[in-house]
Amino acid sequence: MSLSLLTTILLTLIHTHLAMSFTVILPDSAQLEGPQPGSSMAKNGAKTDPQEQQAVYDIMRATGNSWATDIPDVCRGRWHGIECMPDKDNVYHVISLSFGALSDDTAFPTCDPTRSSISPSISKLPHLRTLFFYRCFSYNPQPIPSFLGQLGSDLQTLVLRENGHIGSIPHELGNLTRLKVLDLHKNNLNGSIPVSLGRISGLKSLDLSSNQLSGSIPNLTFPAVRVLDLSQNHLSGSIPNTLLSCNSLLKIDLSHNRLSGPSPNINGLEELILVDLSYNSFIGPFLSPLNNLNSLQSLILKGNPSMSATIPNNAFENLNNLIILVLSNMNLQGQIPESLGRLPKLRVLHLDRNRLNGSIPTSFSKLNGLSELRLNNNQLVGSIPFSREMIWRMRRKLRLNNNLGLCYDAKSGLGDDLDTLFDAGIGHCDKPKPVPLQHISTVDEGIIRSSTKSAASLHKLSLLSQIIQLSAVFLFTFCLF
Ligand SMILES: *[C@@H]1O[C@H](CO)[C@@H](O)[C@H](O)[C@H]1NC(C)=O
Ligand SMILES: *[C@@H]1O[C@H](CO)[C@@H](O)[C@H](O)[C@H]1NC(C)=O
Ligand SMILES: *[C@@H]1O[C@H](CO)[C@@H](O)[C@H](O)[C@H]1NC(C)=O
Ligand SMILES: *[C@@H]1O[C@H](CO)[C@@H](O)[C@H](O)[C@H]1NC(C)=O
Repeated sequence: MSLSLLTTILLTLIHTHLAMSFTVILPDSAQLEGPQPGSSMAKNGAKTDPQEQQAVYDIMRATGNSWATDIPDVCRGRWHGIECMPDKDNVYHVISLSFGALSDDTAFPTCDPTRSSISPSISKLPHLRTLFFYRCFSYNPQPIPSFLGQLGSDLQTLVLRENGHIGSIPHELGNLTRLKVLDLHKNNLNGSIPVSLGRISGLKSLDLSSNQLSGSIPNLTFPAVRVLDLSQNHLSGSIPNTLLSCNSLLKIDLSHNRLSGPSPNINGLEELILVDLSYNSFIGPFLSPLNNLNSLQSLILKGNPSMSATIPNNAFENLNNLIILVLSNMNLQGQIPESLGRLPKLRVLHLDRNRLNGSIPTSFSKLNGLSELRLNNNQLVGSIPFSREMIWRMRRKLRLNNNLGLCYDAKSGLGDDLDTLFDAGIGHCDKPKPVPLQHISTVDEGIIRSSTKSAASLHKLSLLSQIIQLSAVFLFTFCLF
């Protein structure tokens, strides 16, 4: 998958969020930033609430930031990572605390990783809206404290990302009914997802990805949820129907779990932009219909070998914004539907490692934006319907090897691109196949070469996507709500 494509998708999501957030954020930030009445009054002796000030000192000490206790007024001696707001009596209250080196631009106080903890004094900050800990307790693994469930009713954002938290998710977090963002990405959390989280009815983003959560997904309903990421866990069972009625979803990622059952009907989630259900054990028939998903840009279902289905010919009708379609290794049978060639924005199409037969639909010649096509390891036959220009555009990202009888037609003028075609894994239609021995060894080398390369680029990709995701979280968390 190309880097820029992924960037585009993630950025699109971020942009969507920003647009959505704009009206939400304005009132608060106007009070916080700039030459507001609040700050001029601060000169006239406005002070931080004394109880909250002591609580902040406790919290800073517990994270190895004792320097903060020398600051006479934590709200007025502001550092990156603390935000306050005056009330009508000119008393400052702490509304946001953030820890961890997110990037060079946003250096919140870092935690001493060997002996940090979350101080129980945190529950003495009743006006807190945002609490953010990133890479804080990694060398001092500890459970998520259940007292976080007692945080004030203003709390909208709770981010505990890559902190090395162990144990299960405390069901007390379900008491934080005003939360909009709950992000527990990449810890070592185990046990099942607490049913109590279903009480957070205004949740907009739930990210529990990259933990060791097990059991089935509870019957949760989040009418306002935009982003749901439960990927990279050990979740089993089928997707509850309640999740499939969260019709504000923009992104649903349940990849890399042990989910089973019939492939879900997501056609009611009309705002979806990104769907990733890869590496599970969903069974057929094929995920469809999808004709309501006009906004969908990326559909990734690879690595569901028990799907064992045919692709209905109208499966991708109306997906006018689809850019990425990845259906590798799903045990798909029968023919490639002609309608796939009518996806106007398609750039990446992977259908490799299935049992698809018949020939490549001629409609594929109209996929003018296609830059990556994998049809290798199927049972396809016949001459390829691509123009020279398309082949030249895709080059090594065209994979056709290991099929029953794909070839190119000499009359099409493709012979000049012999190297590319040979790399893609096919030969001339009129000529008998090359001598097997030589052919096999060359192809093998090709596969080894390209798989090493793709492993390297995958690594690069995951690094980049990590950075992008992080900035997405940051924007999402701080700009939106
Ligand atoms: C928090 O939730 C638990 C159940 O999940 C409940 O027993 C407890 O009383 C709640 N605490 C507060 C302070 O609301
Ligand atoms: C979760 O992990 C802890 C150790 O970190 C272990 O003691 C506990 O038994 C585990 N619980 C489950 C449900 O796997
Ligand atoms: C979810 O609801 C279905 C029926 O609505 C029920 O069969 C199932 O047991 C429920 N699952 C959980 C975990 O509560
Ligand atoms: C393709 O495979 C399906 C079942 O797997 C079979 O019914 C059909 O006859 C095959 N078609 C061709 C053209 O080989």
